[in-house]
Amino acid sequence: MLSWDDYDENATAAAPQPSVNQAAMDTTPAAPVAEEPAPAPKADPEPAPAAPVIEAAAPAAEDGDAMAKARAAVNAIDPAPGLEALEMGAARVQVDDKRMINCRADLNQLVPFKYEWAWQKYLDGCANHWMPQEINMTADVALWKSNDGLSDDERLIVERSLGFFSTADSLVANNLVLALYRHITCPEARQYLLRQAFEEAIHTHAYQYVIESLGMDEGEIFNMYREVPSIAKKAAWGLKNTQNLSDADFQTGTPENDQRLLKNLVAFYCVLEGIFFYCGFTQILSMGRRNKMTGTAEQFQYILRDESMHLNFGIDVINQIKLENPHLWTPEFQQEISQMILEGMELEVMYARDTMPRGVLGMNAAMMEEYLNFIANRRLAQLGLPEQFPGAQNPFPWMSEIMDLRKEKNFFETRVTEYQVGGALNWD
Ligand SMILES: [Fe+2]
Ligand SMILES: [Fe+2]
Repeated sequence: MLSWDDYDENATAAAPQPSVNQAAMDTTPAAPVAEEPAPAPKADPEPAPAAPVIEAAAPAAEDGDAMAKARAAVNAIDPAPGLEALEMGAARVQVDDKRMINCRADLNQLVPFKYEWAWQKYLDGCANHWMPQEINMTADVALWKSNDGLSDDERLIVERSLGFFSTADSLVANNLVLALYRHITCPEARQYLLRQAFEEAIHTHAYQYVIESLGMDEGEIFNMYREVPSIAKKAAWGLKNTQNLSDADFQTGTPENDQRLLKNLVAFYCVLEGIFFYCGFTQILSMGRRNKMTGTAEQFQYILRDESMHLNFGIDVINQIKLENPHLWTPEFQQEISQMILEGMELEVMYARDTMPRGVLGMNAAMMEEYLNFIANRRLAQLGLPEQFPGAQNPFPWMSEIMDLRKEKNFFETRVTEYQVGGALNWD
């Protein structure tokens, strides 16, 4: 545990090594490393002459005139043409200028809000903040390491779940940051995307924390998304739907490309987060309900709460894009979207069969298939598409209770889960 006393601003910290890519891109000549770097100068009313360590590290300062060059560059900036050159324009933003995609208004102006729901989800996401290391894993470690604590089928479920989720959340985060973010042209939605990206990092952290706590074979777990067919197929399906958008030349603005963006949104929000997570979550949470692996189950419970908000945000974004661009939502395109939901459901049914060769934890693959039919119907209905599995029922109604954000007690009775920060807590 670090304390403030451990922080010595004058200490000589080891310089981080550049990565291979950074080293390849860095064209500045290697500067001599000062043996004893001088302490950083305190803020000075007058700029001090460049300290020796800065001269050594920055070649531009070698002529002794770096500050003069910096001042000249700042004086040369002409604000008006600079702002006009911004891709999104420089005028004051009006609510009517805002659009979810292909907006031409300045994206650096958060307000005035048009999509209040997106801002509210950002606030709700922040209020639900949690960290993996706050959850006690002691009982899980003892159970996992004991010889007769879990059956082989239960162990398989824990390993497969961590194998899939530990990389799936990285796939989602990479898609958000590298593909999706730049095409969503609404600042309040981007604010939520930034929050979501951090939550995905917390989820990957949580899986890593569980894997490390249990002393699992990290190489085996983190490579399941490439080596275990029922997991690899799900990952490959997700990756296929990111490829177009992560291409640096991809731009929205044509009906064809806007439809590609919509497909990416459906793939990631409705299928990855809205279908692919459900079998593993149901299995681990069922384990927790049976008082097994309760720390792991609690981690999954918080993740599921976040994921249900990601899903709802994604569906709102998709429906907003449909509303603003009705020409995209053709009968043929609706068929394609419906097909994607069915493909996702089929992949998850395969995963259920692979992870439950027999009945386990009061459930089996057939029950999970019915649940996934029910979930697919929900996703289709949320997108305004006809349900494909008439009469499908939810065999696990307790899952809905776990997702309910208004729950005041932990499902596993281990701690209070209405974990909210700051002003969002109700102390009464
Ligand atoms: Fe996640
Ligand atoms: Fe997510």
